[in-house]
Amino acid sequence: MRRALVVANWKMHGDRRFITSFASQYGDAPVGVDVVICPPLAYLAQCVAAFRGRRIRFGVQNVATVPSGALTGEHAAEMARDLGAEYAIIGHSERRSLFGESDAIVAQKFQAAKRAGLNPILCVGETLQQRRSGRAHATVHAQLAAVLDNAPAPALEHATIAYEPVWAIGTGATATPAVAQDMHAAIRERLGRAGVAARTRLLYGGSIKADGAAALFAAADIDGGLVGGASLDATAFAAICCAAACAPCAATTNDTTGTQ
Ligand code: 13P
Repeated sequence: MRRALVVANWKMHGDRRFITSFASQYGDAPVGVDVVICPPLAYLAQCVAAFRGRRIRFGVQNVATVPSGALTGEHAAEMARDLGAEYAIIGHSERRSLFGESDAIVAQKFQAAKRAGLNPILCVGETLQQRRSGRAHATVHAQLAAVLDNAPAPALEHATIAYEPVWAIGTGATATPAVAQDMHAAIRERLGRAGVAARTRLLYGGSIKADGAAALFAAADIDGGLVGGASLDATAFAAICCAAACAPCAATTNDTTGTQ
């Protein structure tokens, strides 16, 4: 049985005041759901302190390929771990398209996260052009193969795959549950060849909103979400986490009892 997982990707948003306010508005992870917040690295330590005593876990949005070195501006997975991170988003489409991360670099970063003891959340997804030209599945398969073909089965333990179609990220154009499920089923089938299909969590990401989240999470192969914009609103994010716990459950905030 896979536990639901909802991950907030705050991208390059927020400041100290925002985190204080978010922490006071957001309650706790609903029972049965793992909730992970990935703030900008600069605020990771503040986040860990602000949520102390709750079941929230933390991650980073990127890691370097190596543990240390003369790499101005980079941060190692080991440093993120040292600050309290347990997860690392790897290969987000913004890293791929804006920072030139190839499949080979993404594979190295996946290994770097594992080496440091972080749980990698590997992002895959096709562009609109690739979907329109019928290459959505081939694109995602190639992105998966770059990592899975070089990773021994133990490296895939505790890894998560996030399907984030590029055309759905930040556009408001959420994939329908059917479109998302179709790709998730294909990803799970691919994981079957690596022997980890049943236990690997698959997240959908791309314009997830509070309404509509339950329908996505109800799909057989969608185990939760990777949430961008809506994760910056404590009420909306709480509602999405709640949808992962049980579709018709009402969202509440300021509830630290764990019963929301
Ligand atoms: P949005 O939810 O803002 O579309 O972002 C999705 C995303 O990129 C999460 O990693």
